[in-house]
Amino acid sequence: MEIGSKVAVTGCAGFIGSNLTHRFLAEGREVVGVDNFFTGSRKNLPSGGDAASFTLVEADITVEGKWQELVAGCDTTFHMAAYPEAGAGEKDTAIHLKQNVIGTRNVLEASARRGKSIVFASSSTVYGEAKVMPTPEGYGPLKPIGIMGASKLGCEGYIAAYCHVFNAEGAIMRFANVVGRHEAHGVTYDFVRKLKKDPSKLEIIGRDPGTVKSYIHVDDLMDGMVAGCAGASERVEIYNVGTDQTTSVHELADIVVGELGLDKVEYVWTGGVDGGRGWKEDVRRMALSVEHLKSKGWNAKLSSTEAIRKTVRELSSEM
Ligand SMILES: NC(=O)c1ccc[n+]([C@@H]2O[C@H](COP(=O)([O-])OP(=O)(O)OC[C@H]3O[C@@H](n4cnc5c(N)ncnc54)[C@H](O)[C@@H]3O)[C@@H](O)[C@H]2O)c1
Repeated sequence: MEIGSKVAVTGCAGFIGSNLTHRFLAEGREVVGVDNFFTGSRKNLPSGGDAASFTLVEADITVEGKWQELVAGCDTTFHMAAYPEAGAGEKDTAIHLKQNVIGTRNVLEASARRGKSIVFASSSTVYGEAKVMPTPEGYGPLKPIGIMGASKLGCEGYIAAYCHVFNAEGAIMRFANVVGRHEAHGVTYDFVRKLKKDPSKLEIIGRDPGTVKSYIHVDDLMDGMVAGCAGASERVEIYNVGTDQTTSVHELADIVVGELGLDKVEYVWTGGVDGGRGWKEDVRRMALSVEHLKSKGWNAKLSSTEAIRKTVRELSSEM
């Protein structure tokens, strides 16, 4: 799949979308960014010289509108906008349906429907509690245990079907836990924020040692996405994007505490639910096989631990 010289990024003011936007501008591409600033921040947007090739479209992707014409003028759409809270589905079962599935359908109307390529931010949550670790892309049956995972799986289905019906190309990227600059949610961000406020104790959701998951730095993630697009041979390619290592929440807390130069921090575990999950929809263990992406010449430069370490430094300087 050719990314092309003009790309759209939905969720351009958010964590991953803003990093992609800066990267594509630095590569000399033109970027049309779409965001409604629900969780995104204006401070993540390009400024200075790069901003000349950037067009911001302030719009809600769940509502069809003029933004779709601007997206339709791009070669490839990197669709990152979504409702980000994995645990929100239990309280509001409609939110991910609207934000993720309806939003994705509207993005597809502007991109794949017109034969343009789409790259989608899917998630490891589509696998649910997989019985095979590390989990390859071909694992099934897919039984998400959370509403967000269900919505991501629904989006994947729509992308595959739109690409088939309208002769477009798609790349579905199933992300592990992503960390890095501009992050404003997630466990690493949460720990850094809490410890900056009170370095004596840390409240941790769940039960010691917590869930065990793979973390990837956003720079490695973006390299993986670009390599995956370049190496795609199917009309719709599916890639896991993660690292070969996993980190428990307890280990993550130790890394954050160490990197912040703290000691004697008291860990206060909330207990979680269901014998150790942080919340009902939380997967206990996630490890993705990234062999498919490696076969396209990509390798994560940072391990799970190194990615978290670097992120603590990046977030510290941003806070
Ligand atoms: N961060 C992770 O660890 C992770 C892991 C797996 C998958 N993902 C997926 O990657 C994508 C990006 O995640 P992120 O961590 O950067 O989240 P984020 O919340 O930082 O960014 C999402 C962006 O989308 C925007 N947005 C949300 N709803 C919108 C709407 N209706 N219309 C227009 N803009 C809207 C938000 O304002 C925000 O700028 C999401 O699809 C997420 O599900 C993230």
